[in-house]
Amino acid sequence: MTATPNPAARPIGIFDSGIGGLTVARAVAQRLPHERLVYFGDTAHLPYGEKSTAAIQAYAVKICDVLLRQHCKLILIACNSASAAAYELVREYVGSKALVVGMIDPVVAYVGQHYAGRPVGLIGTKQTVGSNIYRKKIDQLDVGVDLHALATPLLVPMIEEGFFAGRVSEEIIRAYLDHEMLQNIDALVLACTHFPLIKPQMEAYYQGRVAVLDPSDVVAATVAEALASRQLLAASAEQGPRHQFYVSDFTRSFEESTRIFFGQEVQLDHYPLWE
Ligand code: DGL
Repeated sequence: MTATPNPAARPIGIFDSGIGGLTVARAVAQRLPHERLVYFGDTAHLPYGEKSTAAIQAYAVKICDVLLRQHCKLILIACNSASAAAYELVREYVGSKALVVGMIDPVVAYVGQHYAGRPVGLIGTKQTVGSNIYRKKIDQLDVGVDLHALATPLLVPMIEEGFFAGRVSEEIIRAYLDHEMLQNIDALVLACTHFPLIKPQMEAYYQGRVAVLDPSDVVAATVAEALASRQLLAASAEQGPRHQFYVSDFTRSFEESTRIFFGQEVQLDHYPLWE
C-alpha cells in the first residue's frame, strides 16, 4: 500500500507566457519561503498579449496538464493576459484537483478597498485591456471607482529587450503616461507581470502625484490566504525548497533574464508543450 501524499507538501504551480510571471513568483517565494514552486513560462508562444482568447485558452489548458502532473496544490496564473482570457476555463478544467488564483480578482478587491470613489488608471496588454475584464469586475463592486484603462503594447517587447532603465524606456513610458486616458488619476495599476521592472521609472515620472500599484504582493497574499484557509501551507524544513523552472522554448537570453525578473539566475529546463 502506498502512503497518502501529504497535500500540504505538494508544490505551487505558477505560469506565464514567459518570464514576466517571475516577478509574481518572486513575491510568492518571499512571502512563503517554505513552498516549493514549479514555474512554467510558455516562451514558445510569447507574447500572449497579442494572441486570441482561443489560442491562450488552448495553451493554458496544456500548461495546467503539466502542472497537475507535478501534483501542484494550487495553480497561480501569473499573467494578466492569461487571467483575462482563461481564468474561468482553467478553474473549470482543474476542478477539485488544485486551487486556482489569477491576477485579476485580488487586484480588483484591493482597488475597491483602497480607491472607492476615486479615478484609477490601468495599463496592460491589448488582450487584457481589450477584454474589459477589470472594468467589468470593478463596476460589479459598485464602489464608484472610475477606471481609465490603456493598452501599452510596446512595453513588453521593450522590457524583453532589456530596455527598462534608460532614455529609450523613459521616452516610451512618458509617451504612454502622457496619454489623455491616464490624466487625473490617483493610482495606476500595473496590469502586466512584466511591468514591476519599470515601476521605478513610472514613479520617477509621477513624482509622488500618483501611486503606482504593483499587484505582485497582493496576489502573493491571496495565495497565502487560500492555502492557509485549507491547511495547505507547507511546513518549514531544514533545507530550503528546490524550485523547478520550465520553459516551452529555451534560449540562453531567457535564462539570463531570470536574474532580473526573479532576483537570481535560475536554471530553466526545456519542456515543449506540443511534441
Ligand atoms: N506577462 C503578460 C501579462 O501579464 C504579458 C506578456 C505577454 O504579452 O505575453 O499580461
